[in-house]
Amino acid sequence: MKFLITAGPTREPLDPVRYLTNRSSGRMGYALAGAARHEGHEVLLISGPTTLDVPAGVDFIPVETAQQMYDAVRDMLRGVDVAILCAAVADYRPVVCAGQKIKKQADTLLLELERTPDILGSMRSVFGFTGKLIGFAAETNDVIAYGRDKLLRKQCDMIVANDVSKPGIGFDSRENEVVLIYPEHEVHLPQDTKEHIALQIIEHATIIPSS
Ligand code: PMT
Repeated sequence: MKFLITAGPTREPLDPVRYLTNRSSGRMGYALAGAARHEGHEVLLISGPTTLDVPAGVDFIPVETAQQMYDAVRDMLRGVDVAILCAAVADYRPVVCAGQKIKKQADTLLLELERTPDILGSMRSVFGFTGKLIGFAAETNDVIAYGRDKLLRKQCDMIVANDVSKPGIGFDSRENEVVLIYPEHEVHLPQDTKEHIALQIIEHATIIPSS
């Protein structure tokens, strides 16, 4: 099967030296890419900036911004059987990126932000993707309810929900604990290394029946 996996944070520039980002290390997405390759699949990893090595045998497209990730995903969907969108894409970006470094002036500085394109939400409705679609949900409360809402709104086959308020899992940690949310049921994967969690997610992804 052919997998497309997104990973890492995005960086939304404010000026030539500053950007808005988040704490995603890319580990979960890179572990998914490594696990899918280990299981013999063809894998394309599209990632925001991280310090990780690309797993051996995995095709790789580096991006920085949400817009670049959106464009790369849209352009690379041909022949993809399973898309897993694990990246922590910025939801907002500065309306204007200053051409020169913003100088210190007043005591406060107001930034105007606008929504970034919704990659997961565009997969079915804009890109016409018909393969298996797996999204992530990073939540701090009502994890299953919010995850299930995303499953329906974004027309996913499965949502991997993690509680990112729990210490030791989620953003920038070596382990994770997730709930796989399907239309009719849920599967809890207890805390383990991201590599072990990734292998289980790939196993689940490959047995989702084609719609
Ligand atoms: O990178 P690590 O340090 O290993 O951390 C792993 C993780 C916590 C980042 C990962 O497990 C995780 O939860 N990834 C999703 C993070 C996220 O942004 O979740 P969300 O609930 O805001 O987004 C929901 C889904 O929409 C995700 O599939 C996301 O990739 C996607 N999205 C979000 C915004 C946007 N503009 N386009 C998108 O496609």
